[in-house]
Amino acid sequence: MLDLNRLFSNNRSWAARETTANPAYFRELAEGQEPHFLAIGCSDSRVPLELLTGAGPGEMFVHRNVANQVFPADLNVLSVLQYAIEALHVKHVLVVGHYGCGGVQAAMDDTRRLGLVDNWLGDVRDVKRRHRRELAELDHASARFDRLVELNVLHQVLNLARTPVVQDAWVLGKHPKLHGAVFDVRDGILRSLVAEVDNNEKADGLIPMA
Ligand code: CO
Repeated sequence: MLDLNRLFSNNRSWAARETTANPAYFRELAEGQEPHFLAIGCSDSRVPLELLTGAGPGEMFVHRNVANQVFPADLNVLSVLQYAIEALHVKHVLVVGHYGCGGVQAAMDDTRRLGLVDNWLGDVRDVKRRHRRELAELDHASARFDRLVELNVLHQVLNLARTPVVQDAWVLGKHPKLHGAVFDVRDGILRSLVAEVDNNEKADGLIPMA
């Protein structure tokens, strides 16, 4: 099942199926992309963004990293964001978190044993500290964990809103609209946390008072 050859043979079957359904499929795909969505998700193998949303090739520009972070100093995510907005003119940018996120869990537990990723998770630890009181009011560790996953998404949407790329785009028009959602691996459902954030007033209201 984990045989690498399986990936290549699956790929051949997929390409053959698509070509049978539409002989021009790959020729058309090769002409270029005009995705309407940029999705920023977690690297977790259980959260395949295109698969769980039914987005086909050409429909979704994707960036994934551990715990779906949007660091204002991360050249990688900023490059993806700028290209998606200024060259591809995506209409929507979604941050997709997921319950059971190992990155968020590590920040929650304050464990320091994962290596470099501990540095990466500094912002999630900040989110936890900032919402200490709200989290403490929840009785169960699992509820605190779920809530931190959600708060992390909201903070990453706010980080997105604060980037100069998004600020400049909003001065020029109504796009992109920013959205935050959380995927539940336990039932396969993607739930919206916040939608249609397209100005600073809405961005300012993203985070519940700590
Ligand atoms: Co994760």
